[in-house]
Amino acid sequence: MNHWDEQAANWIAWAREPGHDAYWHYRDAFFELVPAPGESTLDMGCGEGRVVRDLAARGHRVTAVDASADLLAAAREADPDGDYRRADAADLPFADDEFDLVVSYNMLMDVPDAAAVVREAARVLRPGGRLCLSLVHPIADAERCMDGDYLRTVRFHTEVEQGGLRMVFDGWRRPLSAYTRALEDAGLVIEALREPSDIETPEFPLFLWMRARHA
Ligand SMILES: C[S@@+](CC[C@H](N)C(=O)[O-])C[C@H]1O[C@@H](n2cnc3c(N)ncnc32)[C@H](O)[C@@H]1O
Repeated sequence: MNHWDEQAANWIAWAREPGHDAYWHYRDAFFELVPAPGESTLDMGCGEGRVVRDLAARGHRVTAVDASADLLAAAREADPDGDYRRADAADLPFADDEFDLVVSYNMLMDVPDAAAVVREAARVLRPGGRLCLSLVHPIADAERCMDGDYLRTVRFHTEVEQGGLRMVFDGWRRPLSAYTRALEDAGLVIEALREPSDIETPEFPLFLWMRARHA
């Protein structure tokens, strides 16, 4: 069973409990990086759909994909008129140049081949379109699974219990340059980069946000 199908019930409770996780605190600042609505926006790795609903509330016409059938079912239930499709972000069911904006919020650490996903995002973006990414900052993950070699890509497995809710996160911690290189190789030019600080340890960033433009 897919990790996210296994964690679907936990994630729905985690993501929907008001104020529970970092999304609630950071989302307004993240959306400041997101361009004004164009004709069509894609959310890659939408989960139970909170980013899609927030994009729609800001005027975006959103299509969303996720690999988890259970999370998509929850997203559709919360937003029956939304356009949700089951797909692997590394193999998107869309033609070239279909979107003027692709958003991916905290999904790229979950995939084994982040460069393949970034290439797919670039393929479905029109020239001049933007990719907006949020990642858990490599430094924040390095703290949790430091193996003495920042530059190596390593698997992580984290079990968290917080406010009575439980989640298991599995993924890959990569150095920052793995992501910037993936953007560069896909023909995407970084035009904004932010490292919002961790609320609990303000001397370190929690997330890495980038907006990149398709040349
Ligand atoms: C941490 S959750 C984030 C969900 C949502 N973006 C949010 O911030 O609430 C990561 C999501 O990425 C999805 N995902 C992981 N690998 C994927 C892939 N290869 N293709 C599409 N979605 C994927 C998972 O199913 C999960 O819904």
